[in-house]
Amino acid sequence: MEALRLMLLLLSLLAAAARAVAAAGARPSEVAVGALFTYDSTIGRAARLAIELAVDDVNADRTVLAGTQLKLITQDTNCSGFLGTIEALQLMEKNVVTVIGPQSSGIGHVISHVVNELHVPLLSFAATDPTLSASEYPYFIRTTISDYFQMNAVASIVDYYQWKEVTAIFVDDDYGRGGVTALGDALAEKRARISYKAAIPPNSNSDVISDVLFRANMMESRVMVVHVNPDTGMRIFSIANKLQMMASGYVWIVTDWLAAVLDSSVPRDLKYSHIQGLIVLRQHTPESDAKNKFISKWNVVARNRSVTSGLNSYGFYAYDTVWTVAHAIDQFLNGGQQINFSTDPRLHDSNGSTLRLSTLKIFDGGEQMLQQLLLTNFTGLTGPVQFNSDRNLVHPAYDILNIGGSGSQLIGYWSNYSGLSVTAPEILYQKPPNTSSNAQRLHNVVWPGDSTTTPKGWVFPNNGQPLRVGVPIKASFKELVSGGRGPDNVTGYCIDIFNAAIKLLPYPVPCQFITIGDGTKNPNYDDIIKMIAANSLDAAVGDFAIVRNRTKIAEFTQPYIESGLVIVAPVKQATSSAWAFLKPFTLEMWCVTGALFIFVGIVVWILEHRTNEEFRGSPRRQVITIFWFSFSTMFFSHKHCKRTWAVRVDHMVVCRADHQFKLYC
Ligand SMILES: *[C@@H]1O[C@H](CO)[C@@H](O)[C@H](O)[C@H]1NC(C)=O
Ligand SMILES: *[C@@H]1O[C@H](CO)[C@@H](O)[C@H](O)[C@H]1NC(C)=O
Ligand SMILES: *[C@@H]1O[C@H](CO)[C@@H](O)[C@H](O)[C@H]1NC(C)=O
Ligand SMILES: *[C@@H]1O[C@H](CO)[C@@H](O)[C@H](O)[C@H]1NC(C)=O
Ligand SMILES: *[C@@H]1O[C@H](CO)[C@@H](O)[C@H](O)[C@H]1NC(C)=O
Ligand SMILES: *[C@@H]1O[C@H](CO)[C@@H](O)[C@H](O)[C@H]1NC(C)=O
Ligand SMILES: *[C@@H]1O[C@H](CO)[C@@H](O)[C@H](O)[C@H]1NC(C)=O
Ligand SMILES: *[C@@H]1O[C@H](CO)[C@@H](O)[C@H](O)[C@H]1NC(C)=O
Ligand SMILES: *[C@@H]1O[C@H](CO)[C@@H](O)[C@H](O)[C@H]1NC(C)=O
Repeated sequence: MEALRLMLLLLSLLAAAARAVAAAGARPSEVAVGALFTYDSTIGRAARLAIELAVDDVNADRTVLAGTQLKLITQDTNCSGFLGTIEALQLMEKNVVTVIGPQSSGIGHVISHVVNELHVPLLSFAATDPTLSASEYPYFIRTTISDYFQMNAVASIVDYYQWKEVTAIFVDDDYGRGGVTALGDALAEKRARISYKAAIPPNSNSDVISDVLFRANMMESRVMVVHVNPDTGMRIFSIANKLQMMASGYVWIVTDWLAAVLDSSVPRDLKYSHIQGLIVLRQHTPESDAKNKFISKWNVVARNRSVTSGLNSYGFYAYDTVWTVAHAIDQFLNGGQQINFSTDPRLHDSNGSTLRLSTLKIFDGGEQMLQQLLLTNFTGLTGPVQFNSDRNLVHPAYDILNIGGSGSQLIGYWSNYSGLSVTAPEILYQKPPNTSSNAQRLHNVVWPGDSTTTPKGWVFPNNGQPLRVGVPIKASFKELVSGGRGPDNVTGYCIDIFNAAIKLLPYPVPCQFITIGDGTKNPNYDDIIKMIAANSLDAAVGDFAIVRNRTKIAEFTQPYIESGLVIVAPVKQATSSAWAFLKPFTLEMWCVTGALFIFVGIVVWILEHRTNEEFRGSPRRQVITIFWFSFSTMFFSHKHCKRTWAVRVDHMVVCRADHQFKLYC
């Protein structure tokens, strides 16, 4: 029996070993991985070379995917519309186990539906739209920082400079709208808001952009947050420059697309004069030897291939994405899994169709591959590559740059861990988090117009009417306010004070006086106040008395004049009498008070007369004592005369509630 069991055990061990050998032997010699991006774009040019270099590095590395080559199949999505989607579908026909890309959030939304059905994980290094969420698209993994964090960084900057309203200028597609929605939420947490959304339709010409900017400029806010595509975004600044929106008083906060453009413009032919004073965010990647080595390698290869554009942070994310895929495939194959594809009966071609839907195959091991990808844990060029439970990269952080001269200065960092700081996030991660508001710090900024004072962030909107200021024109006291003919000619002490106060404001307030009354008789001041409440006036200036019911419907300044005016009223001789002292109480009140004292006297007499000498004697004397006691209750306390009653009647309060009298002792 024992021997049999031992033999069975040996057999099963042998079988396991054989399976392992078979699995190892069955490792495919190459694995196809797809890549989807727009070759001819700021991000695509950097990413293309980075991905190719990464595949070379993976294939040269003996510790990852030993014996298996990574085969890259790239497809150009060119434009992000319908054709881009079709090109993405063509890639799916080629039995790839994962897809790196797409670059555009719009294609990301469409392709995510497809990969959900085909069980092919999609790793996007550039689709930052926060609405591409893991809950809706389980096979979508973002290998760069979601704009959710970028918008929180923008909100932290807005809060740091204490601005309350921003204008969002964004491209009206999935990427732009998703980002701006996140911005609205992030600002709301800091008690600020987007006061105007200036949406630029994709592929608009300069006239449209000019129109959108012109309308944005009419608004109150002077804090512009620009979230557009790298390939078309620079035009906004040259148009804004023409509209004189790059002058002092304006604040421009630009998301990471501009950093990508600036980093990629190798011949520094950019017109930096158009973008002076901007604040730009850029994904933070810690300095490391690997990063420096990669940058120089990229530059050498780029020069060899005469690539005209430079590397940007998206290139680092693309490089790390290839390594993420390589590690996951390695783990997948180490687990003895096979790379098999099967047809989906639902994806058949109806008669006469030439779409060839049946060539789209389902990756059988997709679920396991997805799990391996989510377990990724290594240090890449962009820092630690790990996904948290929300499938976001851990440690999201941004550099904050200020453009000045012909370059940019680093003015600080933002990290999800401790907000704004001037210390690099990787150092802060070694300390406990400090998000307290006095730990938030940035270096000094040179704002547009070469100004070093922080802009106020808003102006009086010049889109509507000037302030309508009502002025009462009356017959008396013309020193305070008086109007000649027409509203341009109002004068007086109140008007002078108003004009001086307006001049003190650091921004212009256009206002217009509206005269009320004709100067022959005094207008009704209550009516003027009511006009403010009814919004037919914005303000009123004049000798308004601050009385209670007016303060309920309008705000008043502090009184700034002691007029010395008094109200003279005839004194009415009140008929005075000896009984005036009875006035405070009504007759009923006096009766009740008197009855209560007598009642107390009687009660005290009942309790006292058995033992107390002072309550004895003839009935007449006793009645007098009762009355005397009652009377004296009002004025004296009775320490000496009460014997049996230990509780002293200290005070009595009679009060009227619902026409009933209650007695409290
Ligand atoms: C990309 O699209 C543009 C127009 O949208 C076209 O001119 C160009 O030839 C396309 N490039 C490729 C490689 O398909
Ligand atoms: C440059 O490209 C040529 C072929 O195009 C190749 O032979 C050469 O090795 C490359 N040099 C470097 C440094 O990559
Ligand atoms: C994968 O395909 C191989 C043959 O190509 C087959 O032996 C194996 O059972 C398949 N595995 C799965 C999980 O379908
Ligand atoms: C397609 O055509 C075949 C015969 O040619 C027919 O049997 C089948 O029902 C058709 N399918 C559909 C979906 O029309
Ligand atoms: C990631 O790997 C490091 C060592 O390389 C290890 O210390 C850490 O615990 C790992 N993290 C997770 C979440 O597995
Ligand atoms: C960001 O910070 C919040 C709150 O501190 C935390 O809940 C969240 O997990 C962090 N996210 C990442 C990706 O680190
Ligand atoms: C956070 O930083 C501020 C300013 O540097 C410091 O006063 C405070 O003690 C810090 N708090 C913690 C918890 O480290
Ligand atoms: C304002 O009034 C003065 C004198 O009352 C007069 O000389 C002047 O022309 C008036 N100005 C306007 C603009 O009506
Ligand atoms: C304030 O009260 C007075 C007297 O009660 C009344 O005549 C007047 O209309 C009130 N004014 C407003 C603005 O309600």
